[in-house]
Amino acid sequence: METISNLIKNIEFSPYLSILEMVYILASVLFILGLKKLSHPDTARSGNLWAAVGMGLAILFTILFHKTRMEDGSYQGIHNIGWILAALIIGSMVGWFAARRVKMTAMPQMVSLFNGMGGACAALISLMEFPKMQHELALEGASNMLTGESIAILLGLMIGGVSFAGSMIAFGKLDERIGDFKHPVLRFINLVFLFLLFAFVIFIMFKTPVAGENWMIYCLAAMALIYGVTFVMPIGGADMPVVISLLNSFTGVAAAMGGFLYSNQAMLTGGILVGSSGTILTILMCKAMNRSLLNVIIGAFGGSSAAIGQEGDKTVKEISLSDAAVLLNYSQKVLVVPGYGLAVAQAQHLCHELENLLESRGVELKYGIHPVAGRMPGHMNVLLAEADVAYEKLQEMEDANNDMNNIDVVIVVGANDVVNPAAMEDPSSPIYGMPVIEVWKAKNTIVMKRSMAKGYAAIANNLFFMPKTRMLFGDAKATLQQLISEIKNL
Ligand code: TAP
Repeated sequence: METISNLIKNIEFSPYLSILEMVYILASVLFILGLKKLSHPDTARSGNLWAAVGMGLAILFTILFHKTRMEDGSYQGIHNIGWILAALIIGSMVGWFAARRVKMTAMPQMVSLFNGMGGACAALISLMEFPKMQHELALEGASNMLTGESIAILLGLMIGGVSFAGSMIAFGKLDERIGDFKHPVLRFINLVFLFLLFAFVIFIMFKTPVAGENWMIYCLAAMALIYGVTFVMPIGGADMPVVISLLNSFTGVAAAMGGFLYSNQAMLTGGILVGSSGTILTILMCKAMNRSLLNVIIGAFGGSSAAIGQEGDKTVKEISLSDAAVLLNYSQKVLVVPGYGLAVAQAQHLCHELENLLESRGVELKYGIHPVAGRMPGHMNVLLAEADVAYEKLQEMEDANNDMNNIDVVIVVGANDVVNPAAMEDPSSPIYGMPVIEVWKAKNTIVMKRSMAKGYAAIANNLFFMPKTRMLFGDAKATLQQLISEIKNL
């Protein structure tokens, strides 16, 4: 052990410009490059790996090289390395198994759960550091706690606590363990609570530090947790991905506070990157749904809201598998519009098989991707990339809409809200104003779904009753399988 610590000492250039600081810079560069690579499906996997390597290096080198300056001017390394490594191994194993076992459709829940853990870590750091800081300030005889350190600690606790509790509620909602709890009074309570939280932070900062007097930090923690619950509770189920992205950015900011506290560049850069990318993603998602963040938070529509829209005595036209096969086989241009049902059915590989088959018959096939199709950002891109669909085959919504008049057949695979004309035609609809893929403008539209059930926004879809639309009922995977066999037999 002594040889190792001697070796570590020798590698250090100086306590301040140590190898550790260089590793933090390397880790930060890896985070940034990893994030850049995440923006394209072809490079996303390696981007994830690069960022993970950066984080791994930062953790490992912190354990090995971090030194605390003692009162006598000497430096002391980290204690309890055995415990830390044991916790790391257990945590990594739990994360590894959870990530391997999670179904694609349950991914948002898992993101929420993991995000909550990040928030909890940031809050715990603050809970640990506050008594130490207060003790030191009390010894110095300070009259208040108006320091940069206390701002980082208190904001870290407040934001981390809200993020943890909010993420747990979001997890429960997405996993259908918790329902929505909407009441206009809750909005008012939330506003008051938010005000009280900030007021309490300011109160603590102006208080004279007294060693061992820690009640207020526990009080702040409890308030942050309660606010996290009441903040997310009224938000509709369909809006959860936006909220998770928002909470994700909160966790990033809380982690960045830890970076300030420990003057740790890797933690600071990582936190800032998570905070800013989470904020950008939240804005992009709101834009894709044509809703303001406030509208999402106040909750204009949700998974459990009552069904809106009339179906009356309108009837739908069905298409047989053999007719669908003939129609597709003799088309020139086909557009597949995937939605959440594709993820549920895990039909992405069969979509690719249909694409190969039709292309071998001279049909051009593309995919029209709506930015909020599915239940998480990039859901459809990830699924189709998993099935080896070439990225060039994916058309963004605007391009797909511009080309819609030239499309012979659109196949809607398990999509509903993202192809709902009410978004353009019905000002009373909760999704009015949300850009949609205008599949009804194609020459023919085939909708694959199991029933006439509604989508996540719980509203009726007039597309199913339109003259050029025909329904192909059944599980998307089974239907695609049969359709492929029919086409092969032609
Ligand atoms: P949805 O509107 O949720 O519709 C999915 C449809 O798939 C359902 O109507 C369902 O009908 C069908 N389906 C389910 N399982 C199926 C299966 N095994 N085989 C065939 N069909 C199946 O999906 P969407 O059009 O993708 O819209 C996404 C919704 O989520 C939007 O409201 C969007 O605003 C919301 N949202 C998404 C995000 C992100 S980032 N993606 C974020 C926030 C909100 P049946 O039950 O009849 O089969």
